[in-house]
Amino acid sequence: MADPKKLYIKTYGCQMNVYDSERMAEALGGAGYVETKTPDDADMILLNTCHIREKAAEKIYSELGRMRPFKEAKPDLKIGVAGCVAQAEGEEIMRRQPLVDLVVGPQSYHRLPEMEAKTQEGLKALDTEFPAEDKFDTLRHRAKAKRAPTAFLTVQEGCDKFCAFCVVPYTRGAEVSRPPSRIIEEARELVARGVREITLLGQNVNAYHGAGEGGDWSLARLIWALNDVDGLERIRFTTSHPNDMTDDLIEAHGTCEKLMPYLHLPVQSGSDKILKRMNRSHTAESYLRVIERIRAARPDIVLSGDFIVGFPEETEEDFQATLDLVNEVKYGYAYSFKYSTRPGTPAAERPLVDEDEATERLYRLQAVITDHQRAIQDAMIGRTVKVLFEKPGRDAGQMVGKSEYLHAVHVTDSDLLPGQIAEVKIIGSGRNSLSGQLLRSCSL
Ligand code: 5AD
Ligand code: SF4
Repeated sequence: MADPKKLYIKTYGCQMNVYDSERMAEALGGAGYVETKTPDDADMILLNTCHIREKAAEKIYSELGRMRPFKEAKPDLKIGVAGCVAQAEGEEIMRRQPLVDLVVGPQSYHRLPEMEAKTQEGLKALDTEFPAEDKFDTLRHRAKAKRAPTAFLTVQEGCDKFCAFCVVPYTRGAEVSRPPSRIIEEARELVARGVREITLLGQNVNAYHGAGEGGDWSLARLIWALNDVDGLERIRFTTSHPNDMTDDLIEAHGTCEKLMPYLHLPVQSGSDKILKRMNRSHTAESYLRVIERIRAARPDIVLSGDFIVGFPEETEEDFQATLDLVNEVKYGYAYSFKYSTRPGTPAAERPLVDEDEATERLYRLQAVITDHQRAIQDAMIGRTVKVLFEKPGRDAGQMVGKSEYLHAVHVTDSDLLPGQIAEVKIIGSGRNSLSGQLLRSCSL
């Protein structure tokens, strides 16, 4: 038998892309590929791109330029571009960079084996359509010998919100939810392979409305159904829009045993003027009321958020309103970005804030966020948390896992195994992680 062909995937961007890269590797596994960790010995290189950051397309073109020596050394090498840049640029990629053999949008990954076959005939393969069929079904998981104890499970894709700065509604298309029966089946398969924690994924995950028994299911209903899956210990979901935090979902945070006390709820800005221009359809006040209700349901919840600074026409006063909101919410984690223009989005038409001013605001915001993050981490010292251990740490005998609150926790105990959940007393708080002492093992 011929040696398997080698596939190297470079993943950019969000968790959705990490998940998609795994599915692509599985789809191409059926076409005889095994994954390799370096591009040097690859027979196919796939760049799974993200369009959300500044000059994303330009960066991909330079990265493709750097692939030339690989292609020269191995003329049979196939080079592909997947993800949101593929969706946005389409044919233009092959026009600008002729060494690209394959361009595939996020809705077409299940067609990868056919597309690969086409490239083997020396043809170019392009697919950036939004098909009507359910790509999730075609991209079924294939059994993997070994599984991490945590997994992502996509439940919804796309977004109908059209925030003025965002490309997702254009690159990922309209919001589509998978039927709950398929998600539950897939969760059971993951659990059978050793997964104990599932993060439900979607660009606007809490807008989930999958067609199930008795009509459309909300995300909360889906979470309750997953709560009944034996062997599944933890459920998380990301990313949510504040306006889709429905009563049943907020309530689930207080009552659903397996739903973890952590919520990523982006607000983007604390200024109502900017929020309106961002087309966020919520105000700072309405966001704060949602947070208040979530905290009433689950007082110890750790919150995280996304922020954009230097959105067109943001004044110092608008930025102050963002700082005020951050100081009121006190996020356990937060991701902050300097606004970058996405051609084709409504915000791209608006006058920009001075670059240096925006950079300075970003640093100021990040300093405040870091203070809260540290305080919340430090307050964990002395508390007992349950840690799901994932992998060995850097030091000998060390294991690293995540607490209920998504804090990374490391413990030195050579008997711990990945997949084990154990009670840990927190004894130290470092830059990005906590350290703890094992109290007792809860379950294997
Ligand atoms: N500029 C800067 N940040 C952006 N994000 C999305 N689009 C842009 C943009 N054009 C950020 C938002 C979003 C996160 C995933 O990326 O904060 O929540
Ligand atoms: Fe983009 Fe999120 Fe707004 Fe949807 S809700 S348009 S994904 S920022």
